[in-house]
Amino acid sequence: MDKSFPLSGFGSAALHAGHKQDPLYAHVTPIYASSTFVYDEAEQGMRRFSGEEEGYIYSRWGNPNFTEAENKIAALEAFALKDESGNHLQLKALLHSSGMAALSSLMMGNLKKGDKILSHYSLYSGLEELITKVLPEFGVEAIISDLRDLNKAKEAIKANPGIKLMHLETPANPTLNCVDIAELTKLAKEKNILVSVDNTFASPYLQQPFKYGVDFVFHSTTKFLNGHGTAIGGVLIGKDLQRMKGPVTKTQRILGGNSNPFDAFLLTQGLKTLELRMERHCSNGMAVAKFLEKHPAVEKVNYNGLESHPDHKVAVKQMKHPGAMMSFELKNGKQAGIDFMNKLKMCIRTVSLGTAETILCHPASMTHYAIPKEEKEKYGITDGLIRLSVGLENVQDILNDFDQALR
Ligand SMILES: Cc1ncc(COP(=O)(O)O)c(C=O)c1O
Repeated sequence: MDKSFPLSGFGSAALHAGHKQDPLYAHVTPIYASSTFVYDEAEQGMRRFSGEEEGYIYSRWGNPNFTEAENKIAALEAFALKDESGNHLQLKALLHSSGMAALSSLMMGNLKKGDKILSHYSLYSGLEELITKVLPEFGVEAIISDLRDLNKAKEAIKANPGIKLMHLETPANPTLNCVDIAELTKLAKEKNILVSVDNTFASPYLQQPFKYGVDFVFHSTTKFLNGHGTAIGGVLIGKDLQRMKGPVTKTQRILGGNSNPFDAFLLTQGLKTLELRMERHCSNGMAVAKFLEKHPAVEKVNYNGLESHPDHKVAVKQMKHPGAMMSFELKNGKQAGIDFMNKLKMCIRTVSLGTAETILCHPASMTHYAIPKEEKEKYGITDGLIRLSVGLENVQDILNDFDQALR
C-alpha cells in the first residue's frame, strides 16, 4: 500500500497496516520458517548486530511474520490517536509465544526487587498466580484492592509509596468487572506510576486504553485478535519506544518468550477481519444477554451491556460496544449448570474465548477448580456460573440451542 494514502477506517487499517510488499511478490506474506537469516558478507553481519543496518538475525529476536502482526496490532491500538505533541501516536508491539509470556516480559522488564504492583481483585488466574505467588519470590509485592472504588485506589497508592505499576484488566476474566481506565490513570500519573491494561476481552476495536494515557496495553492474542482459536499468543504494546526497544525487548529475548512464524501468520490473517467479527460478536452478545435475562431458568446474567450490571456505566464510557463475553447463573446451581452444558447441541464446551464459534465453560469445574469455594464466591464465581463467549453464528441458532438446553 502507498504509505501516503491515509486510511480513514479501522477495518481498512486491520487489512492493510503492517503489510510490506513481499520481495517475490506474494500477495500474502509467506511463512518465514527460518530460525536464522544470512549475510552477504561478514561486514553486513557486523552492521546488523550493531544495529547500524536494519535486518533480521535470529528468529528469537525477530522474524518478518512477527513484524507484520506486531505492526498491525500497534496500528490498531493507535488508530486515530495523537500523542502529547499532536502527532500520530507511535507504538511498539512485541509478539510473544503466549499471553503469559507477554505478561512476564511486562513484569520482568519493568520491575525490580522492592517494587510493588497494584491491581484489581478480579484477574485472569494465571496472572494472579504470577503476581501473588511467583514475583514475591523475587522481591516484588502485589497490592490487590477493589479498583472499581477510586477511594480504595487512592488509599492503596498513599499507603504504598513503592507502587511502580498499576495493572488493570477490564473487562476482567471471568467476572466482567470493569474499572475506569481514565480515572485510575489520572491517579497513577500523579505519582509517576506506570499503567498497563489487559485489553483481551475488548480488543482495540472496542477499547483503546492509550487514549487515556496508559503506558502499556496487553492482549492474549489467543482470543479475539486471532479470532479462530488456531494459535496461542500474546502481545505487549508500549508508547515509550526507548523502553520497549531497550529493557523490554532485552527481557523478551533473554526469557525466550518469542512467537513462531506459523502462529504469527495465523494471527495476521485473523486480525484482518477484526472489525467485522467484533460487530457480529457484539450484536449476537446483546441478543443472547437479553434472551437469558428473560429466561425463567436463569437467576442472573452478568453482561456489561445490561443496565443491571454494576459496571455498565464504566463499560459504556470506555467501550464502543459491551463485547461478547458474559456469564450467567442458573437457578438450580451446580447440577443445573452441568445439565445445561451436557445438553448443548451446537455451542461448544471448552475453555478459552474469542473464537468464531460460541464456546462455554463452567469455571467451578474447569478454570477455577483449584480455588477454594469461599475464595471463588468472593469473586462472584458460584458453582452454577457459566461463562460464555458469544460467537459469529446466526444468532437464532445460538438462541435455539440455549432454549432446548435450558428446558
Ligand atoms: C484476560 C486474559 N489475560 C491473559 C490471559 C493469558 O493468555 P494466554 O493463555 O494466551 O497465555 C488470558 C487467558 O485466558 C486471559 O483471558
